[in-house]
Amino acid sequence: MQLEIKPSGEACGADVSGVNLSEPLDPQTVAAIRAAWLEHHVLSFADQAMSDDDLERFTLYFGPFGEDPYIAPINGREHVISVQRDADETVPIFAETWHADWSFHSNPPAGTCLYGIEIPPIGGDTLFVNQHAALEAMPESLRSKLEGKTAIHTGRSAYTREGTYGTMDKGRSMDIRISETAAQMQAHDLIYVHPETGRAAIYGAPGYIVGLEGVEEEEAGALLGELYRWQTRPQFQYRHKWQAGMLLMWDNRSLLHMATGGYHGHNRRLHRTTIGALRAA
Ligand code: SIN
Repeated sequence: MQLEIKPSGEACGADVSGVNLSEPLDPQTVAAIRAAWLEHHVLSFADQAMSDDDLERFTLYFGPFGEDPYIAPINGREHVISVQRDADETVPIFAETWHADWSFHSNPPAGTCLYGIEIPPIGGDTLFVNQHAALEAMPESLRSKLEGKTAIHTGRSAYTREGTYGTMDKGRSMDIRISETAAQMQAHDLIYVHPETGRAAIYGAPGYIVGLEGVEEEEAGALLGELYRWQTRPQFQYRHKWQAGMLLMWDNRSLLHMATGGYHGHNRRLHRTTIGALRAA
């Protein structure tokens, strides 16, 4: 089989065909997929029939497993979580805000793999926004205010008792395990160099980012608002449409992403692993 890579024509993303992910891959194929991943940042592989073993094997070609501390793994697995929503669920959609996965950790995952099992006939797209492109096109007037800044990240608005998935969150089918440890603060460079490509990007987004080191709260809030409006612009986005049997892998070091709704009355279920960090702290 010949690997074929077809760019989405949007700000990032490519479809990959000519590979069967239910079988072990040879080193040349893995290297070609990694190169395409680093170039396009999000790859989709349609028409795959993957078991959880296949998903885990594929993940480990690209790094160690990352951690998903606030979501319980599915039965019998340590590293696979289920991103799911029942047809009649009414709680907020999981992850429907721009973010890089677990950016509030000291060593956040380099990448994420998500495999579609039950996909609604409408809605449920995943949006991505290219943070290299957003930085490269950023007006100097904004960039000069952000260069050299350290962002303060925390997961408190999501994974603590008071957070979106906290004690008020009743009737969610996903097995989210809140903890006050999510309120810890973690610093990361706001603009940093991707460790594998050497290309600069913005890392993270307001939401998990709640402040800037050494910048007074009001000024930081205004600057983060300006950053958010720029980094999420439609011109830097790619909208991913799902099919059952499709695997998606994305690079958290290059992108923000968010889930979307619009499928009430239909189940949605995907299995997810994370690729542990290769990024320098
Ligand atoms: C996620 O952030 O992993 C969820 C994405 C999605 O449900 O589309």
